[in-house]
Amino acid sequence: MEALENIKSRQSYRAFKPDPIPDEILQEVIEAAGKSPTYMSTQPWEVAVVTGQTKDQLSQKLLELAKSNAPTSPDIPAPASWPEELDKRRHEHGARRLNTLGIERGDKESREKLRLMNFEFYGAPCAVFLYMDGSLGEWSIFDMGLFTQTLLLAAHARGIGSVVQASATDYAKETKEFLNLNSDKKLLVGISMGYPDPDAIVNTYRSLKKKPGEFVTWHT
Ligand SMILES: Cc1cc2nc3c(=O)[nH]c(=O)nc-3n(C[C@H](O)[C@H](O)[C@H](O)COP(=O)(O)O)c2cc1C
Repeated sequence: MEALENIKSRQSYRAFKPDPIPDEILQEVIEAAGKSPTYMSTQPWEVAVVTGQTKDQLSQKLLELAKSNAPTSPDIPAPASWPEELDKRRHEHGARRLNTLGIERGDKESREKLRLMNFEFYGAPCAVFLYMDGSLGEWSIFDMGLFTQTLLLAAHARGIGSVVQASATDYAKETKEFLNLNSDKKLLVGISMGYPDPDAIVNTYRSLKKKPGEFVTWHT
């Protein structure tokens, strides 16, 4: 796929076919992500690929925690508040997603089901966790973001859909224990990956994007 077309057509998918991603394809897209630029070539990324029964066991564990509303332990806490414009966008995203699925705002049961799907990795056959040394700071998180986007685009070029999930790190402590990672590692994000389910309504959802006129100033 042509590069710009690949970038423009990427979207988050939240329903997947059960078919596993062949190991060689996963290796190829992860290797491509490793080509991302980094602050002084430090390459802070560490990656855990979780598939098969191990993924099912982790999902089970996270679901139990989430269902019982166990205390969360994210290494990057969710912001306590947002600037007004971003907060508006955030709510609009939530409302449009519910609308796509025909869920009323007041339908707490359906919304809870939707929240819990995060911990089932939306049915994806593969969950990828990105983490780094706990002593690292903002520039390394920046680098991890670049790695993430390259991974998503490389996967998309091979027909693999994905969704980045902060919520997959809500139970960072338990997830790191499960993956035998040192507790001082910083768990940044989980990414569900698989072949998109073409019949799932949720995959018809498209987020709204700002136009360049809304975020660029030209200084000539
Ligand atoms: C850092 C980050 C965290 C995210 N966390 C979640 C999440 O926990 N659950 C989820 O369903 N989507 C999550 N998303 C996906 C966003 O909702 C999605 O990228 C956004 O709505 C834009 O849509 P698009 O990816 O289709 O362009 C996350 C994305 C990013 C970059």
